[in-house]
Amino acid sequence: MEEHSEKYLLPFEKGVGQATIAAGSHIDLAAVFGREAPIVVEVGPGSGEQLVHAATLHPEWDFLAFEAWAPGVARCVNAVSRAELDNVKIAELDAAQALPIIFGAHLGSESSATHAAEQVTAHVAEQALAHAIERDGAHDVVQNAGQRQYASQVWTFFPDPWRKKKHRKRRIVSPSFAHTVAAILQPDGVWRMATDWDNYAWQMRDVIAESPWFRNPYAGQNIDFTDEGIYQGGFAPRFEERVMTRFEERGLEAQRKVHDVVAVRNNLGIDDAEVPEDPWVSAVARGETVLADRGGERPASSRRGLAQLG
Ligand SMILES: C[S@@+](CC[C@H](N)C(=O)[O-])C[C@H]1O[C@@H](n2cnc3c(N)ncnc32)[C@H](O)[C@@H]1O
Repeated sequence: MEEHSEKYLLPFEKGVGQATIAAGSHIDLAAVFGREAPIVVEVGPGSGEQLVHAATLHPEWDFLAFEAWAPGVARCVNAVSRAELDNVKIAELDAAQALPIIFGAHLGSESSATHAAEQVTAHVAEQALAHAIERDGAHDVVQNAGQRQYASQVWTFFPDPWRKKKHRKRRIVSPSFAHTVAAILQPDGVWRMATDWDNYAWQMRDVIAESPWFRNPYAGQNIDFTDEGIYQGGFAPRFEERVMTRFEERGLEAQRKVHDVVAVRNNLGIDDAEVPEDPWVSAVARGETVLADRGGERPASSRRGLAQLG
């Protein structure tokens, strides 16, 4: 296992909160993967079924998976090592906190202005850095001296549903996470989502419709007459490269419908003033929150996993 962990786990300097990366860290993804290739980010791979399927199907791409649940990380490592994959790394990290830091989203533009979003400043990463400087003093913080990096796709399949109305603000697909994804996606990069919870599907569709940085190529299509409010559609056909996971199976068994949502990054730069604050990430950055706070709705096995983590 140790040998596999060494091969598949993304090495990083730990941050203060559980499953967080130190603010100001830099990771050179091309060096990590040993080549320059399109990077697909999977958020919450769970047991890694989709990760293994896709990485086997696309040896020409590199896959970076963010899984905040330690037992899930172990399952992913086992799954990718059994498949003997060379194009996968797994990060035991909260994607919302870590993505802007790892991709250097707060860094200024490179010299060639090919991407309007090069002027992007990732609010979240800057905030985390500012908090860390305040907390630790500037000497202890390693400044991110690297370059901005971009993903070609981001996948968020069957994210934790947070069914209760009062918990919906904990859902990862939110306006602030859309900002994070926009900050790390290359122009025309694609964000794919799927869920078996209707009102989360409406939320995904609405977050994209309201985001200035994405367009929905299926806007107005595939109308669902159980939709809340106006019947506006906006759902994609099932992503044909998405495997059936345990979570999808469970949803279908319970007679729930699965919706796919696709968002394509446009060329618009990000004006920080428009960026909504993510209270979760801010609390993580201040070291006030541990992951378990977000994990209350998980099955008992996963709660045990978190408890073991301490
Ligand atoms: C409902 S499961 C779905 C797993 C997988 N995508 C599938 O379809 O089978 C959601 C997963 O997302 C992970 N997760 C939740 N929030 C996360 C975050 N902020 N960063 C990384 N992983 C997260 C959970 O630990 C869990 O493994």
